[in-house]
Amino acid sequence: MIKNDVLDVIGQRISLRAYSDEPITSEEENAIVNAAMRAPTAGNQMLYSMIIIRDAKKKELLAELCDHQPFVAKAPLMIVFVADFQKWVDYYIKNDVKGFCEGKDFQFEAPQESDLLLAIEDAMIAAQNSVIAAESMNIGSCYIGDIMENGEQIKECLQLPQYTMPISMVVYGHYPANYPRLPKARFDKKFVVFEDSYHRLNDEEIDEMFQSQNQHYRSDNSAGAKNYAQMFYARKTGAKFCKEMARSARFWLKQWDGRLF
Ligand SMILES: Cc1cc2nc3c(=O)[nH]c(=O)nc-3n(C[C@H](O)[C@H](O)[C@H](O)COP(=O)(O)O)c2cc1C
Repeated sequence: MIKNDVLDVIGQRISLRAYSDEPITSEEENAIVNAAMRAPTAGNQMLYSMIIIRDAKKKELLAELCDHQPFVAKAPLMIVFVADFQKWVDYYIKNDVKGFCEGKDFQFEAPQESDLLLAIEDAMIAAQNSVIAAESMNIGSCYIGDIMENGEQIKECLQLPQYTMPISMVVYGHYPANYPRLPKARFDKKFVVFEDSYHRLNDEEIDEMFQSQNQHYRSDNSAGAKNYAQMFYARKTGAKFCKEMARSARFWLKQWDGRLF
């Protein structure tokens, strides 16, 4: 098995939700931000922004808007990763790309769904670079996907313009002393890695894939679920916060409408 420092860092990372009192220095913060900015980016456009939240009140508000997760506000470093086409739109408009398009066989269109997806890819790859860089300095991190909820309030809080979407927030902090690092199990490779084409799992394979998950079923669950799939659905996909995320995601998607300027 190949072993090196990078693979060790990736292998030991866990989502950290409690922090030591040690602050993150500006040198460490710079290293995290610079690593994010070295991430690959479609067409080298860097279709994202990183908003570092310094204001304690804003941290509290974001922790609340992100499905009431109080640990989030305690993180020494909080960065919102924003899918962002606004800068390119403003650049295009400033340089009369619209006029240039007139009479050509292409039109000047506002960013649309495909642009958003590219920007999301950029933002998330940058975020993951930051996570690995942090981990290499013994700084743990946790993604907060709930930043996609409550779109209207988050937009106001962060002053986000139209062609943006906050796609993830990452909170960082030093590991507490002797923190038990127990990497969570993943599905078996054979259910995740295919060769040459997709392999749709049959009933037996689905049973096998979820075998260890199923052991977490509790018959006294509050949702009255009869198995782990029902229990998980009730807790996650069917839960109120997921419905809010779906509503809010539609709010963001509506902004990226590809209208003609
Ligand atoms: C896109 C994304 C969103 C997440 N959102 C949250 C969140 O809102 N709150 C939280 O505590 N953990 C969140 N997590 C962390 C996951 O729960 C965690 O990665 C998963 O349980 C696997 O555990 P591990 O990271 O320790 O391996 C998120 C992770 C990802 C990748």
